[in-house]
Order: sequence, then structure tokens, then C-alpha cells
Amino acid sequence: MNVGIDKIGFFTPNYYVDMVDLAHARNDDPNKYLIGIGQTEQAVIPNTQDTVAMAANAAVQILDDDNRDKISLIILGTETGIDNSKSGAIYLQNLLGLSRHARAFEIKQACYGATAGIQMAKDFVNLHPDQQALVVGADVARYGVETPGEVTQGGGAVAMTIAANPEIMKLSKNSSVYSDDIMDFWRPMDRTEALVDGHYSNDIYQQFFVKTIHDYLETNDMQLTDLQALVFHLPYTKMGLKGLREILPEVDEAKQKSLLNEFEASRVYSKRVGNLYTGSLYLSLLSLLDNSTDLKVGDQIGIFSYGSGAQGEFYTGELQAGFKNPIRKANMEKMLDSRTRLSVSEYETMLNQWPKLDAGDYTLDVKNDKAEFTFNGVSESKRQYQSKN
Ligand code: CAA
Repeated sequence: MNVGIDKIGFFTPNYYVDMVDLAHARNDDPNKYLIGIGQTEQAVIPNTQDTVAMAANAAVQILDDDNRDKISLIILGTETGIDNSKSGAIYLQNLLGLSRHARAFEIKQACYGATAGIQMAKDFVNLHPDQQALVVGADVARYGVETPGEVTQGGGAVAMTIAANPEIMKLSKNSSVYSDDIMDFWRPMDRTEALVDGHYSNDIYQQFFVKTIHDYLETNDMQLTDLQALVFHLPYTKMGLKGLREILPEVDEAKQKSLLNEFEASRVYSKRVGNLYTGSLYLSLLSLLDNSTDLKVGDQIGIFSYGSGAQGEFYTGELQAGFKNPIRKANMEKMLDSRTRLSVSEYETMLNQWPKLDAGDYTLDVKNDKAEFTFNGVSESKRQYQSKN
């Protein structure tokens, strides 16, 4: 049976900071940000959009009368969850009006959470082909003003339904996984910003990529030439390019060129949004689907997931008849093009308005937030969300 990604939706808030502006403000050469890091714009997340609100804004785009009642598994992958006990998936279920006869929970393993959710959902749908799963990767990627990681911030959510006979992509039965106890990126309980050993995490990412892709190809009796494109977790888009360059020497010049072309298609959106942590890999997949001009039904896509700490996984997907969707692409471009460009000082103000962990009760002004779902503040220590429809 074919099981895989049936629908995919994306949300990022309405603000961004331009990377040339940020480079000038930090007295850096803009080419370090544009070429060395591979980012042109960075999403700025207002305090009225937290992980749950963004997840709901992404998911609502892919729910319809056909799939709504079939969803009996709701998984939120996040490393910027909103509660130490209650899962964001329960809030999502309620905000989206999904069935109460569903399992709803959250998964955490740094940027790997959404992949863990997809793999679990795939096995679930294989056992229950008449049902579907909703998997969302949502995060706010924050390192703080004037930190080395500042240029790799961002945020947003990618939502996917996993179903039998999917429109977009059939997922491979097998994966290759690799994990180890690595302190490359972590966020202690009392912090809203991550701690990171950036260069070390780059090295581990590349090592895990090479290990898992080689293991996958060998175990499944495949060649690199069997893959028409590769998509990567993109904490910043140069990271994926560094990974790709590790294996390009294994193929001839023509194949190198075509893999590089597909990589460019896969990073169009991430260049403009920045890091989404758990959703980044799937924003890269969405970008490939929308922006590649050469891919066709039946092509095999290699998918590399990495979550610091660290977990790597490589698997593949086969493109299905509905992988191109001009309306989805037009909506995506409209969302990115209609955002407000903030000055660096406006961006810093917005970053600093992010609620402190001990803020107590507060009410946020949501009148300027045009998204369907907003986070409105905290009342009696309970988070308050609003749906405008
Ligand atoms: N023109 C063109 N390129 C330039 C340049 C210029 N003027 N100046 C510098 N560069 C290049 C450098 O040569 C370098 O390229 P390579 O990586 O190919 O060597 C690149 O720009 C970055 O320069 P530096 O290494 O000097 O930059 P840095 O010390 O400021 O650190 C970083 C960069 C490590 C990515 C840092 O931003 C960081 O710590 N980011 C957060 C951690 C991160 O995202 N790690 C990724 C893997 S971890 C993960 O995936 C989990 C997750 O999502 C967080």
C-alpha cells in the first residue's frame, strides 16, 4: 500500500528583517549572510504567534471536508513547546475542531520532532488505511541579539496530513537512523534562547548525513544516481549545501549539476524565512515541490532529517500525481511577499517583547495580527488562544 504525505501547508508571521540590513547593523559583510550563511530574509515572530498559534495557522490550510473526520492522530513536533506538561497538540485539536476520538500529543527531539511524527504516522496509516494523521512541525528559532546564531533565527510551522494513496509523496518503508549523546545545541528549562556550539553542530550534522545516506543506499541496494533530488534540514541554507557537497564527488559532473539545481529549488523559501527548527526540512521539501522545473511523477527524493543532541535519519519519498499545486505555490508567494519589512531596531524590539518565562498573567494586543489564530496572553496561568473565524 502507498502511504505518505497527502497535503502540506505552511505558515509564517507577517514580519521579516532583511539580511543586508542586519549585516550592516552588526558591522558584518552582507555577503557573509547572503552567501556564507545563505539567507536573504528572516522571519520575525510577534508575541501573538507562539508555537500553537502558528501550528494552527499552518494546519487550517490543509483541512477540508474530506480529511477532517478521518484524522485520528495529531502529532506536534516542537522544541519550543508552550507548557512543560500539557501538549500543544491538544490545543491544536481544539482550535481546529478535530475529532475527540484522536490521539493528540507532542514530540521533542530538537529539529527531528516532525520526522519522528511522520514516521509514527506512516506506520499508523499502514495499519489503519481508512484513517489519517496530522503532523505539524512548529517552532520559534531564537538565539538573541548580537549572538553568532542571530543570523540563523526564524520561525513558522509546516503541517502535513499522512494518508493512504497520498497526493504528494509516497514514503519509503525503510529509513536509516543514527543517534548519539552530543552537546551541540540545547535549551535548559529556565531559558527562552538556545545554547549552541555552532561549528561543532555543523560537523556532527555532516557526519550524520554521510553515515545515514550511505547506510540507506547500501541497505536498500540503491545508488546516489537513483535519487533525483535531496532535501535537507535547513537551519540556514548553506548548511544543506555543505551536506550536499560531502557526497557530490560520488557522482559524475552532469548528476552533480542536476542535484545542485534541485538544491537551489529546495532552498528558495528557507532563504526568506530562516530556521523553523522541526519544520525546516519540510519547508525545504515544499520549496522543492513548488520551485523545481525538472521533477516528474515517480522521481525519488532523498530526505535528511537532523535534530541536535543528536538524531539523524535518512529516508526517501516517491513523487505522486498531485505533487505540483499552482494554487498552493501562489498562496505561498503571496504570504512571503506581503510581509512587512522591519528595521533592525523594530526587529530587536519585537524580539525583546517575547514573554519572559515568569511573566505571570498578561493580555496581548492582537488587533494588528491578521492571522486566523492568535495567542492572546495568559489568564490564571492558562494560555488563551483565539480563532477569528
Ligand atoms: N562572503 C562570503 N562568505 C563568507 C564571508 C563573506 N564576506 N564571510 C564569511 N563567509 C563564510 C565563511 O567562510 C563560512 O563558510 P563555511 O561555513 O562554508 O566555512 C560562513 O560564511 C559562516 O562564517 P563563520 O563560520 O565565520 O560564521 P560564524 O562563526 O558566525 O558561525 C554558525 C556560523 C556556526 C552557523 C552560527 O551562525 C551558529 O552558531 N548558528 C546556530 C547553530 C546552527 O544553526 N547550526 C546548524 C546545525 S545544528 C541544527 O541543525 C539544529 C538547529 O536547527 C539549531
